[in-house]
Amino acid sequence: MKRVLRLGVNIDHVATIRNARGGGHPDPVDAAAVAAKAGADGITAHLREDRRHISDADIDRLSREINLPLNLEMAATPEMLEVALGHQPHAACIVPEKRQERTTEGGLDVVGGSAHLASYVEALNRAGIRVSFFVEPEAAQLDAARALAAPVVELHTGAYCNAKGAERERQLGRIREAAAHAEDIGLECHAGHGLTYDSVGPIAAIPTIVELNIGHFLVGEAIFCGLEQSIRHMLELMNAARGRVQ
Ligand code: PXP
Repeated sequence: MKRVLRLGVNIDHVATIRNARGGGHPDPVDAAAVAAKAGADGITAHLREDRRHISDADIDRLSREINLPLNLEMAATPEMLEVALGHQPHAACIVPEKRQERTTEGGLDVVGGSAHLASYVEALNRAGIRVSFFVEPEAAQLDAARALAAPVVELHTGAYCNAKGAERERQLGRIREAAAHAEDIGLECHAGHGLTYDSVGPIAAIPTIVELNIGHFLVGEAIFCGLEQSIRHMLELMNAARGRVQ
């Protein structure tokens, strides 16, 4: 079956560079407009508890000024739920969050946290915001997401991206199995974290994955070739890999 593979561009690290000097440049909302021009299907932004990159004002402007679906990455906290319900993004991806981490280091423990997470999924579902859980590629995590009535899971590709040689193949196998399991139990499957030109092909080739969320590499690569070009090239690689399996 022919399926579309969407790209959500994560613009957090445009805000990281802006915040290094405390002014308004570079503006992540301008970056989102460039992503739209380059052919991205959505914008992803993580409003962290410590506001280290994206700010509340950014979420407000992304919601009002950008004509692409917004995927709000958020921790399962009352504060973030209020932000989501207030802004009504197209989607919300629930992620684990630790203050000390440099980036989202692992997937959310939906199995262990299901009692806490249930009311968040319920409130977001009720508001018509598409909920996903960012999880390790493990069947038990997917089953727990399904049991909570979350319609989508995003598989954490960090371990795959960081691995080399045989270990990378093993990690890829875990993602393939989890993506197949997602389809079997009726979950829409996304993937992301750490993806680069080098690592995206095998993930894009997995037919049951319908969306990739990519940020840090695209923003870094933009230093050398510009953001529009880095996004266009990523889309070419995704489409080429997906085209080979259709
Ligand atoms: N998906 C999720 C859920 C994330 O938390 C992140 C990082 O914020 C990404 C995708 C994008 O990861 P990267 O910036 O490494 O491409």
